Amino acid sequence: MTPVISPGLSRRIGDARAIVAFTGAGVSAESGVPTFRGTDGIWSKLKPEELASMNAFLKNPAMIWEWYAHRKKIMGGIAPNPGHYALVRMEGLAPSFAVITQNIDNLHRRAGSRTVYELHGNIERNYCMKCGTAYGDDFVVAASGVPLCPACGGLVRPDVVWFGEMLPEDEWEASVRAAEGADLFMSIGTSAVVYPAASLPLIAKRSGAYLLEINPEPTPLTAQADEFLQGASGVLLPLLAEVMEGTHRSHG
Ligand code: OAD
Repeated sequence: MTPVISPGLSRRIGDARAIVAFTGAGVSAESGVPTFRGTDGIWSKLKPEELASMNAFLKNPAMIWEWYAHRKKIMGGIAPNPGHYALVRMEGLAPSFAVITQNIDNLHRRAGSRTVYELHGNIERNYCMKCGTAYGDDFVVAASGVPLCPACGGLVRPDVVWFGEMLPEDEWEASVRAAEGADLFMSIGTSAVVYPAASLPLIAKRSGAYLLEINPEPTPLTAQADEFLQGASGVLLPLLAEVMEGTHRSHG
């Protein structure tokens, strides 16, 4: 059953000056992107350290590129869902709004979100490990197999964050600032277990934000949340956008 948006939450959404939507794989589940954890999750069948680490890449770049070619293909064939579009509607109304995402699928930008911080990279981008030159997907697809940098001969890799790697500094710092400045922080479709990203909801709460969690299942964050809306983001986010549009209409 879909939870009802309480009058208290409606008021908070209408009054919020700075909103952050912190998203994980669950937000893309209704677009057909598999999540990582849970019974059908990617990591239930494959070991992260064997596919998403620098060691794995250097040991067998062909295998890793095969996996990313497969994921790029899945992601090329999907589209944003009503949850992504609802966040775009909310961004159009809030004085300040940021999406902080752990997803690499580019769906927030494709939906039309403007302020998007990508903590774990973007699967549509690639770069040379030796000279840093950036490459789009056309280059990678044309290369077939392991792409090598035409400028210096170095290995080209996907621009995603692997286990053991640092998050992109600019995106991280902007995310911390957004979390600290938020009055409404929504943690949506994430198991909230991968750090440092998972510390953002706690930073926001400590700085005074109202912490709203949206997920079909409770997570380790649920006990800290001020409110937990249990259900799919593709259903609940359009309801929240509607509430926000209603409040802004009545304010005139
Ligand atoms: P997870 O797979 O850990 O969690 C997905 C969450 O989405 C779960 O809590 C599900 O209950 C929830 N979920 C499923 N369907 C949903 C729906 N329709 N609407 C809303 N929520 C739904 O994915 P993440 O938390 O994103 O890291 O994982 C975090 C990081 O771990 C990923 O960015 C990736 C992975 O290893 C890197 O690649 C560095």
